[in-house]
Amino acid sequence: MSNSSAEIDVLSYFRGKVDRYDEVDQQVYWRLSDTLLWETLSGKSLDSFEPGFSFLDAGGGTGRWATRVLDSYPQARGWLVDLSEDMLAVAEGKRTGDRAGRFTTVRGDLEKLPDEITGQRFDVIFNFHNVIGFLDDPLEALRGLAALLNPGGHLITLAPSLYHSTYFNLANGRFDEAERAVREQRATFTEGMPPLRLFTPHQLTGMYEEIGCPVEVLTGFPSVIYPTFQETQIEGTGQSVEKILGTPEGFQRVLDIERGLVDAPDVAARGNNIFVVGRKR
Ligand SMILES: C[S@@+](CC[C@H](N)C(=O)[O-])C[C@H]1O[C@@H](n2cnc3c(N)ncnc32)[C@H](O)[C@@H]1O
Repeated sequence: MSNSSAEIDVLSYFRGKVDRYDEVDQQVYWRLSDTLLWETLSGKSLDSFEPGFSFLDAGGGTGRWATRVLDSYPQARGWLVDLSEDMLAVAEGKRTGDRAGRFTTVRGDLEKLPDEITGQRFDVIFNFHNVIGFLDDPLEALRGLAALLNPGGHLITLAPSLYHSTYFNLANGRFDEAERAVREQRATFTEGMPPLRLFTPHQLTGMYEEIGCPVEVLTGFPSVIYPTFQETQIEGTGQSVEKILGTPEGFQRVLDIERGLVDAPDVAARGNNIFVVGRKR
């Protein structure tokens, strides 16, 4: 597979992160975010399918989410596709025990899906944590994924928010990046990362409509506490985050507040990430 220069930047960025990527679980902010993502994924989507449902983790990286789904839904079968051999090698290492016969990892580009993936049909396809932000043409990539869904299947995206990126960059003194976010709908969060395409809830809803997967769930989280620079790093917790989430009681209270807001019709625009479920017609 030959890669464009933008893809080479993405590959080298994740090569630098891969060794400690899964340690994100140790940062309290991401534990909050992951708890909300898992509850929303399972409650609003996975629980509604037959136990033997099939899923594709698109841009699945090290397999954090694919393995969680396989472990929690022991009859489910999962595929994971990712551009990065480095990330994929970690995911492949998790094809163990009870997962081994139910988990397939494939190297491939979401903008030009490989035959091993296009030959399958899925009940659920999800892409989490900035994946569609790295793509040249997210609409076409989502269209390609939607084509692989069984009728009634779910296409789920967790996408970086234009509004959050603008706020985050200003909060970190990065005026140029905040301006670029608004001007180009593209920005970095830190030095050295490839620029990410950014989204609004309205745009995602329109994209989903256009590809024949009208949105059934639109939300965003975390929506009442935002990460600091420290949360973009592989370890550490920012002072403002520590102050609020640093005790078990604080964590639980914020989690309950977030849970209380997850169904609010306009909360998506406040989320650090925007979460969308569309159902294929
Ligand atoms: C921030 S990671 C998220 C990984 C995983 N979804 C998660 O939530 O843990 C983004 C992933 O997108 C993958 N990616 C970026 N561009 C891609 C493309 N064009 N095709 C497939 N995967 C891509 C990267 O290799 C990386 O593993």
